[in-house]
Amino acid sequence: MTKKVFVTHQLPGERIHELAQLCDLNVWMGPGLLPGEALREELEDCQGLLCLLTDRMDRTLLESARDLEFVSSMSVGVDHIDVEALTARGIPVGNTPGVLVETTADAAFALMLAAARRVAEADRFVRQGHWRRENAWAPDFFTGKDVSGATLGIVGLGAIGRAVARRAAAFGMEVLAWNRSEVSVPGVETVTLDELLLRSDFVSIHTALAEDTRNLINAERIATMKPGAVLVNTARGGIVDEEALATALGQGHLYAAGIDVYAQEPVNEDNPLLNLPNVVLAPHMGSATTLTRARMADLAVDNVLAALRGEPMPHCVNPGVY
Ligand code: DGY
Repeated sequence: MTKKVFVTHQLPGERIHELAQLCDLNVWMGPGLLPGEALREELEDCQGLLCLLTDRMDRTLLESARDLEFVSSMSVGVDHIDVEALTARGIPVGNTPGVLVETTADAAFALMLAAARRVAEADRFVRQGHWRRENAWAPDFFTGKDVSGATLGIVGLGAIGRAVARRAAAFGMEVLAWNRSEVSVPGVETVTLDELLLRSDFVSIHTALAEDTRNLINAERIATMKPGAVLVNTARGGIVDEEALATALGQGHLYAAGIDVYAQEPVNEDNPLLNLPNVVLAPHMGSATTLTRARMADLAVDNVLAALRGEPMPHCVNPGVY
């Protein structure tokens, strides 16, 4: 029987064209993102799903997807998917690790530099016509914080954390890291999370969102951060308490932040971070280069192709199902 595969968005990359030859393919053509209710309806008689990180695959939705045999997400993070529920049903879940590592590390560094050197604030200043003869330059004009030679604390020393560490070394930074499991990387001092927060001038988050990392950077931990530190988050919003972060930034305990991910995406209008001049905001675009997005799509399709051929997915987060 030809399997039915649903793809929740039009994809870049080369490999998507191969899919149509192997299955009964249905691609959501928009406009915009697929609503949750439409996803539920589409999955009623589908064997395969290729989804994005915006498609919430929770237990209730999965219960109505009775024919589902495999899921491939065009993302490395799979916190939008109830992997436990799928594993219990023997359903493999594919993701797209590796290909977005350098691009996401670049984005973390871009946010770190922008937050430290007030790039977004300066852009607004010039663009809005505030740069005039009477304030053209002064010794304290738009002074920021040095990145070179500072101490960087990396929370989560996986592939992206290590890529950030390599960039930091080139900036002459002292690099500290904390990881959930033991890991050792040359040039990186592994410390406890408490010590990392105490010593770091910059803290960059690169851990996955899981039960033990949800709200990891909470009010108590933010209070222990080095005064004047900068926080960068390109991992997942749920890891940082946004209210507590906004309070620390507003009160001057923290110098600035660079934020790409939020507890609620798209970000809520009343998110307190939106009103702070010392926060550089981005719309979850850490892996957003044309090349990387095409590579992610190709990997996601490769996972589907393997599943259709009855082979293990090349990138599977629950390989125990095989
Ligand atoms: C992922 O793949 O999980 C990233 O967040 C995408 O940028």
